[in-house]
Amino acid sequence: MAFLKVWKAVCQAESVVPILVIPRMTFLLKPATFSGPCKSSNIFVQVLGNLVAPNTKWAWIGHHINTWLTFSNVSGLSIIGQQGRIDGQGSAWWPQPCLQQNVQNGAKCNGPTALTFDTCNDLQLNGLAHINSPRNHMTVKNCNGVVISNLHIIATETSPNTDGIDIPGSTNIQIGNSNIKTGDDCIAISGGSSNISITGVTCGPGHGISIGALGYGGYDRVEGIHVSNCTFKGTMNGVRIKTWQGGNGYARKISFENIKLVQVNNPILIDQFYCPSRVDCQNKTSAVELSDISYSGIMGTSTADEAINLSCSQSGGGCCTDISLDRVYIASTIPGKKTNANCFNAHGRSTHTKPTVKCLMQ
Ligand SMILES: *[C@@H]1O[C@H](CO)[C@@H](O)[C@H](O)[C@H]1NC(C)=O
Ligand SMILES: *[C@@H]1O[C@H](CO)[C@@H](O)[C@H](O)[C@H]1NC(C)=O
Ligand SMILES: *[C@@H]1O[C@H](CO)[C@@H](O)[C@H](O)[C@H]1NC(C)=O
Ligand SMILES: *[C@@H]1O[C@H](CO)[C@@H](O)[C@H](O)[C@H]1NC(C)=O
Ligand SMILES: *[C@@H]1O[C@H](CO)[C@@H](O)[C@H](O)[C@H]1NC(C)=O
Repeated sequence: MAFLKVWKAVCQAESVVPILVIPRMTFLLKPATFSGPCKSSNIFVQVLGNLVAPNTKWAWIGHHINTWLTFSNVSGLSIIGQQGRIDGQGSAWWPQPCLQQNVQNGAKCNGPTALTFDTCNDLQLNGLAHINSPRNHMTVKNCNGVVISNLHIIATETSPNTDGIDIPGSTNIQIGNSNIKTGDDCIAISGGSSNISITGVTCGPGHGISIGALGYGGYDRVEGIHVSNCTFKGTMNGVRIKTWQGGNGYARKISFENIKLVQVNNPILIDQFYCPSRVDCQNKTSAVELSDISYSGIMGTSTADEAINLSCSQSGGGCCTDISLDRVYIASTIPGKKTNANCFNAHGRSTHTKPTVKCLMQ
């Protein structure tokens, strides 16, 4: 209640830029939504202390189960971390991971997302530590103009569904200089997002950076995603694009540049047959089209033999076009062992690349 009360005062403050300072103490917060629009076009939140979620599921009774802390419809918000910490205390939720089957059966298996920004312009997030979320640590949804930097996002490798940053339906986003170690995707970009730049991020453990899964029974578009100067350490995947069979739309103008791989299981992956539920996995007559996707300066080691897997759909009239690889060198973690590439129905070219990608022009 104290937080909601102070938020109301900050949000209603007119004149100068209001500043909300969360002092160097630990605060236990029940699920809360901080709503706008606010009177001032800029609001600063300075987090010096720890915000801690309840460590049992009971605290969510009577609340929306999907989220813990939400900022909704607030523009010009800057949250500056300075040693601040957001602790989701998620371990009570982890034993029942949300499998795709359960989602389709409508089961309430998901824990809450720790921090959600829904509908915003000009958001800045800097310097916070985000730990042990019940589900994904952060969702940036329907936002435009976001700068995220110097974050530390940490949950154990075995914690299910604990994505670092999820970005659905958002545009003009920059993510820089951050360290993300979790049990699921480092950063996941989904439908309706465009113009996103990710640079200087270290991922791992976790599942790497992913675009998708796109086209689950509908239309999705993703455009202008640039991932550069990132390192993947011990992740299940490196850079992954996944689409379901049967969707429509596109993902295009995507680049992965200057990427360092350290013991990554599937460094480069395009999967247009994504279907983790293994229910209704038939091939369909349409697919989200992938085009203008480039991988350049990607080097390091893979723990699997298959370092590159470009598995493109045959439906939808040329589903993977203008795919390019240049200066991609991926060796096995086992000295002397060869890596290889699986390439199915992908069109484009590869230069200075090992392993050789046979279905692309050399
Ligand atoms: C955001 O605020 C605007 C302006 O008051 C309002 O029209 C809109 O419905 C709000 N949107 C959401 C998602 O709350
Ligand atoms: C893309 O985002 C950057 C900032 O991240 C901005 O400077 C640029 O104008 C945006 N481009 C488009 C086409 O919106
Ligand atoms: C990535 O690193 C290179 C070399 O250090 C640098 O020239 C380039 O500007 C960096 N890219 C971004 C987007 O920061
Ligand atoms: C490559 O990806 C496709 C599509 O997901 C999958 O069926 C195949 O098993 C993968 N190849 C290997 C060797 O893992
Ligand atoms: C879908 O198509 C791919 C590529 O032709 C093939 O490998 C796979 O077996 C098909 N899957 C099903 C369920 O028919």
